[in-house]
Order: sequence, then C-alpha cells, then structure tokens
Amino acid sequence: MSKGANQLKPLIIVEDDPGLQSQLKWSFDGYETHIAGDRVSAVNLLRKTSAPVVTLDLGLPPDPTNVSEGFATLQAILNLIPQTKVIVVTGNDDRENALKAIELGAYDFYQKPIDPDVLRVIIERAFHVHGLEEENRGLSKVQRNSPLDGVVANSPEMLEVCRVIEKISPTNITALLLGESGTGKEVLARAIHGLSERKDQRFAAINCASIPENLLESELYGYEKGAFTGAAKRTIGKIESANGGTLFLDEIGDMPIGLQAKMLRFLQERVIERIGGREEIPVDIRVVCATNQDLQEKIEDGGFREDLYYRISEIIINIPPLRERAGDAVLLAWSFLTNYAKQGSFRVTGFTKEALTAIEEYRWPGNVRELENRIKRSIVMADDQMITQEELQLNQDSGETMPINLREVREQAEARAVIRAMSYVGGNVSKAADLLGVSRPTLYDLVNKYGLK
Ligand SMILES: Nc1ncnc2c1ncn2[C@@H]1O[C@H](COP(=O)(O)OP(=O)(O)OP(=O)(O)O)[C@@H](O)[C@H]1O
Ligand SMILES: [Mg+2]
Repeated sequence: MSKGANQLKPLIIVEDDPGLQSQLKWSFDGYETHIAGDRVSAVNLLRKTSAPVVTLDLGLPPDPTNVSEGFATLQAILNLIPQTKVIVVTGNDDRENALKAIELGAYDFYQKPIDPDVLRVIIERAFHVHGLEEENRGLSKVQRNSPLDGVVANSPEMLEVCRVIEKISPTNITALLLGESGTGKEVLARAIHGLSERKDQRFAAINCASIPENLLESELYGYEKGAFTGAAKRTIGKIESANGGTLFLDEIGDMPIGLQAKMLRFLQERVIERIGGREEIPVDIRVVCATNQDLQEKIEDGGFREDLYYRISEIIINIPPLRERAGDAVLLAWSFLTNYAKQGSFRVTGFTKEALTAIEEYRWPGNVRELENRIKRSIVMADDQMITQEELQLNQDSGETMPINLREVREQAEARAVIRAMSYVGGNVSKAADLLGVSRPTLYDLVNKYGLK
C-alpha cells in the first residue's frame, strides 16, 4: 500500500484497558492511530493497514493477568509481517517477560506506568529504524541485480560501461581501462576475466608503476638460471604463468620506455623469451591494461610508444569518476556498510539523512576507494547505530560550478532529487514518487525527461 507524503503513518495500539486506550489515542495524534483490544482485531488491523509499528500490551483478554495471549499476539503479528516493529508494554517490574518478548522478536519493551512522552520517542525511533530497513531492503535488491559480479552500480553511466564489458569479455580483444585513481579499474579487469572462458585460469595482475625497471622485466618474462647475478634457478614470469588466463597490466602508462618495445613484440607475436633464454615460448593470454594517465600526452612527450598504444587500445573503456555517476555513491555506501558492519559485527545499521545527502554531494576526488575508506572508518568510529554527517568528515570545498540560468538550475536540482529519491528506495517508483511528493506518472515523465532509465 502506498502512502502519500502528507498522509499520517499508521500505528496500531493493542491495549485492552479502555482508559489507557483513549489516553494513548490522544497522545499519538501525529500518527494514524488504530486501537485493538484483542489478538484478532490486532491481526485484522495489521492486515488492513500494514502498520510499521505496533505497541502491544502483554496482558490481554481473556486473562489479562497472564501473558500467554500477549505472546501469541506477538507471534501472530510477526508471522503476518515479520518486519513490523513491536514495542511490548509490560506491567511494572515484569522484566522477565519483557526480555522473553525481545527474544521472540519484539523490537523493544516499555514498562508501565505509561509516560506518553517517553513512549513517543520509542515509537518514533521504531518508525525511523523501520524506514531505514525498508530502504536497505530496496537497496540490497538493487545490489542483487548488480550488472556485473562484484560491481555495485546503478547509474546510466556505469551501466553503459558494464554493458560494454559484457560484450567484450568473451572475446580476446585487448582492452584499455582509463579512469581516475580509485574508480574500479582493477574490479572491472577482474570482471572481464570472470566473464570470459578463461575464468578458471589465472588472473595475473602486475603493477608497472611500483616495480623498478630491471625487476619488472624479470617479473614479466622470467629468467633462466645464471641469466644475471643472483639468478640461482630458472624462474617463470607472470606472462608465462598466466598462460591460458588473463594478464592485467596495471598502470601501463608507467611502463619504462625501455621495456615497451619488448611488450609490443609480445603483444604482436604472442611469444616470450625468458631473460637469458633462447627459446621462444608461445603464450595464449588475454591482456587487459589500465592507467590513470593521459597516454596521448605521454606519447607527445616521448614517454610512451605510439605503436604500443594502438596495440593495447583495441577497445578503450572510459570509467567515469564517482562524482559523475548519478546515485552510485549512496548505493556504494550502503553496500560497503552492509558488508563491513556484518564482518566486524558492528552495531551500525545505517546513515542519517544528512549523511546520505553529504555522500551524494561530495565530489569524491579519491573515487570509490575513498568512499570505501570513509565508510570503513565511520563504522568503527560511529557512536550510534546511524552514521552521521560529522562522522563521515566530508568537508566539501565549494568550488563546484553551478549554472546561473534559472531553468538549468531548476532542472539540475530536479534531476538530482529524482536520482536521489530513486536510489534511497532502491528504484521502487511508487516509493520514490511518495518521497518526491509527485504522482507516479509525473515521476515517469521526469525519468524520461532526464534520460534516467
Ligand atoms: N563499482 C564498484 N563496486 C564495488 N566496489 C568497487 C567498485 N569500484 C571500486 N570498488 C572498490 O574500490 C576500491 C578501488 O577499486 P580498484 O582498485 O579497482 O580501483 P582502481 O581504479 O584500480 O584504483 P587505482 O587507480 O588506485 O589503482 C576497491 O576496494 C574496489 O573493491
Ligand atoms: Mg588499481
């Protein structure tokens, strides 16, 4: 059932005492309050309203001094809608049953006598937690629909990248992945491998920037015994060892110019010679390269061979920076939170609204890697279940250029709001429309207008 933004949220109060019934009804006029006096009417109301939150007096008729009917009601509620947040109301001093109720799946408990102000806070919090869990469910659904294994993305920009990757993966075409640091070049290189027929063979990655020239050469090609001082025994290089699989040449832009001719020869003829060896060894390998450098510029400066460039760039895949992937930052944030919070059994369950806005608006110069690190750190540092904007420590420098034409400003803001709403609710159109305060058809129009899919 979809509720309009201005409609009150349904709350069910299960209470048999007529005096308390009316007191509570008046106390919670911020909700669409429904009163049930027994189990049957509680369950019927829940079926009708799908109320996210229920307060449940454990002492219910026929024998209000006994909690068994209360427990039965709790179970009936959770059987019907397991996500319901049930706040159990117990008699004074009845901790034992309160704890038992929690064990059975109640969200919280509250001991009589009732102080409406305190109970209201508990109820508000229950609604809040319920809302976040709903978002989370929506988001994990999006993740399950993730375009490629291990790749979290929902923006049109990244979905296009993923589509290209799916197409080229089964071929032997040499792909060049271009993207800023932390955009996921290695993740995508692995995805190419994983989608190819080579997936059961090795994926060998070598970072051309982090190894000195002479070591890089022996790393790549291997060497024969006695090829140089210290070459105590024959050693197989990365290229040969990945035979049948995929070789990922990371930071190819940093490959020393002296090694580039040898690499070119390998790419053309698909044979290698170990250092100090005479034998030509044929190698069947798929090559994927990546760099965050401007190779054209390097070619002009004489730092990169043009012929090698044409060899490695049979297809070029430009990976957009995170700030240009509409809605993906929030999606990734949820994904990292879910994974890391689970691993370390942290109590963190979500983000405050302000934190999500900050994630969406930050420019992420370090891209996905930076986001991942922030979330990891925030999970550890968080004081509460919700990660706050302060804990994320995203200090935005406001250097962003905003259009000044009013129509453009409006459209940009509108498109962003739509994207944000959609990513908050995992692409559920009715919920996104509710959040935005527009009808579903209007939302469809907006989605089409901005080409958001
Ligand atoms: N789309 C994505 N979904 C999930 N995780 C991602 C995604 N993109 C990147 N990551 C994660 O972000 C981190 C950085 O990704 P990766 O190492 O692939 O980036 P890179 O472009 O190779 O970075 P660098 O240029 O610094 O080497 C990794 O931990 C990776 O798992
Ligand atoms: Mg990398």
